[in-house]
Amino acid sequence: MTESMRIILLGAPGSGKGTLASRLAREFKLAHIATGDILRRAVEAGSVLGREVEAVMNQGGLVPDTVMVDLIADRLAQPDAARGFILDGFPRTVAQAMALDKLLDRMSLSIDHVFHLNVPEEDLVKRSVGRRVCSECGRNYHLTGAVPRQADRCDECGGELRERDDDGEDTVRRRLKVYQDSTRPLAEYYGACGAFREVDGTPAPDVVYHSVTGWLRGTGRR
Ligand code: AP5
Repeated sequence: MTESMRIILLGAPGSGKGTLASRLAREFKLAHIATGDILRRAVEAGSVLGREVEAVMNQGGLVPDTVMVDLIADRLAQPDAARGFILDGFPRTVAQAMALDKLLDRMSLSIDHVFHLNVPEEDLVKRSVGRRVCSECGRNYHLTGAVPRQADRCDECGGELRERDDDGEDTVRRRLKVYQDSTRPLAEYYGACGAFREVDGTPAPDVVYHSVTGWLRGTGRR
């Protein structure tokens, strides 16, 4: 396996990108670049960026491409990204994908793997509506799936578990519509390149993880 892998995870809201990316990043010592997490931290900090994006995020819309491309250019320039990275939540539009291509070109880098997680819509809604996130370390739980040992407390750090502001059912359905209109076309954009793989995201997280690592180790199956 190459030392400095560069991976893109594509998939609808709730398809398991964050869950998979955290484990891959830990295992392969890659920078986990989750644009949603970066934006939520900015909102929580009340920064200029956070104030700019809060309303659009809470309504389930997309932050403008120009803002996202600048953000990712800054993030990829940070030293930890040099040893490889996983992009979770970026790109999200064809314009972002084209900007990423140019950016990587300038850095003389390329993407090694693009995984597209497929999960049926009703499962996506259930996963997002039942999600709880640790307010301290960011670990994901689910009310009926990945249940914490102690109600409302993180198993790892004891932090309080909270619902995300954009996980109400109406907002989740809006985010899914935005995904279909703006992000789903990326499967076609990357589909022609040899790095692209469709992944069944419906089994348990462990199964999804092993199917993806099979591809990373060159033993994956269609
Ligand atoms: P972001 O935070 O990226 O949200 P998202 O893409 O909608 O994805 P989610 O975080 O909801 O889901 P996920 O696929 O990571 O699933 P997870 O692993 O958490 O973006 C939020 C907002 O920021 C956007 O709406 C937009 O406004 C803005 N934004 C971000 N990037 C942007 C960009 N590039 N351009 C413009 N705007 C941008 O899992 C979900 C739940 O399911 C959890 O409870 C988990 O425990 C459970 N689960 C996970 N895997 C499985 C499994 N295999 N089986 C059963 N349950 C599972």
